[in-house]
Amino acid sequence: NERVFSGIQPTGDLHLGNYLGAIVNWVRMQETHDCIFCIVDLHAITMSHDPQLLAKQTRELAAALIASGLDPDRCILFHQSAVPMHAQLAWILQCVARVGWLDRMTQFKEKKGKDKEGASVGLYTYPVLQAADILGYRATHVPVGEDQKQHLELARDIAIRFNQNFGGGDGEFFPVPEPMIQGPATRVMSLRDGTAKMSKSDPSDMSRIAMTDDADTIMRKFKKAKTDPEPLPESEEGLEGRPEAANLVNIYAALAGTDRAAVLREFGGQGFGSFKPALGELAAEKLAPNSERYRDLKADKKTLDRILRDGAAKADAIAAPILEDAKRAVGFLKG
Ligand code: TYM
Repeated sequence: NERVFSGIQPTGDLHLGNYLGAIVNWVRMQETHDCIFCIVDLHAITMSHDPQLLAKQTRELAAALIASGLDPDRCILFHQSAVPMHAQLAWILQCVARVGWLDRMTQFKEKKGKDKEGASVGLYTYPVLQAADILGYRATHVPVGEDQKQHLELARDIAIRFNQNFGGGDGEFFPVPEPMIQGPATRVMSLRDGTAKMSKSDPSDMSRIAMTDDADTIMRKFKKAKTDPEPLPESEEGLEGRPEAANLVNIYAALAGTDRAAVLREFGGQGFGSFKPALGELAAEKLAPNSERYRDLKADKKTLDRILRDGAAKADAIAAPILEDAKRAVGFLKG
């Protein structure tokens, strides 16, 4: 049985990287699979945070995800802290994962900054909680962007080790989850620097397209995007060593639902003076309606809270028996 799980942090506005790297695939898969999508507020407190802002951002992210096409009648949408399994299974899995495995995680090294002593313990064990998210639903497929690849390899290692140690006869307690990293924009880069990932934490608002930006803002940001002075190449090899150009072509391909080669057949030989407005127009056409829907949804807190509460009840109904099985498997007596 196939089951899809994925998560996203409520730490800032949903941006084009999240959308093209993950959300478009979530929206597509909700038509064909059992899907569970989680706003990971437990993960969001691994870095210092403002409690009031976290509550607001959790609700706003739910609104933005629904505005982007998630349908709470077709998928389960909820916030992580509302389902007890996540924290409880994470503890068990922390005793399965090895310190050596976590020491290899590059995202911890980036996020802890210069001062390892000052990082929270939760930031270090973050990827184990992520494994619990996935395994606690016995999910088989996990649609994410490229930057989550290492965390998913860890989740696979944890599943395999748990199965070996506690899986019983057939050793198949948890399915080993498959990452799904799909589309022409699995790693969307900053509009100000083609070598840096587009991210919520970049201080420059011009570095990213927020899913809440209106059509004019989207156009202005693409027109101001950093580029080199050469025209676009005719073929994909010509994008090598041109990270900004490659990024804009990837974004165009993803939004248009084609591939890079097709975009270059259309725009190869043209300068950015004509490509950027075409990209801005395409992006505004695809994204601006979402931002209008978002503004309407965001105002209706009651409905959003009800959607999240219903989602959490459905998620809990799946996760609670799996957690019980896991507790028996490691030898805990029934409570
Ligand atoms: P987060 O909140 O950083 O990002 C959510 C999703 O967006 C993708 N993404 C990108 N894709 C392409 N280009 C970019 N510039 C870009 N930036 C972000 C991410 O790959 C991700 O798919 N740890 C996870 C959340 C998480 C999770 C999980 C994911 C918690 N538990 C279980 C999958 C399964 C995170 O911080 O994603």
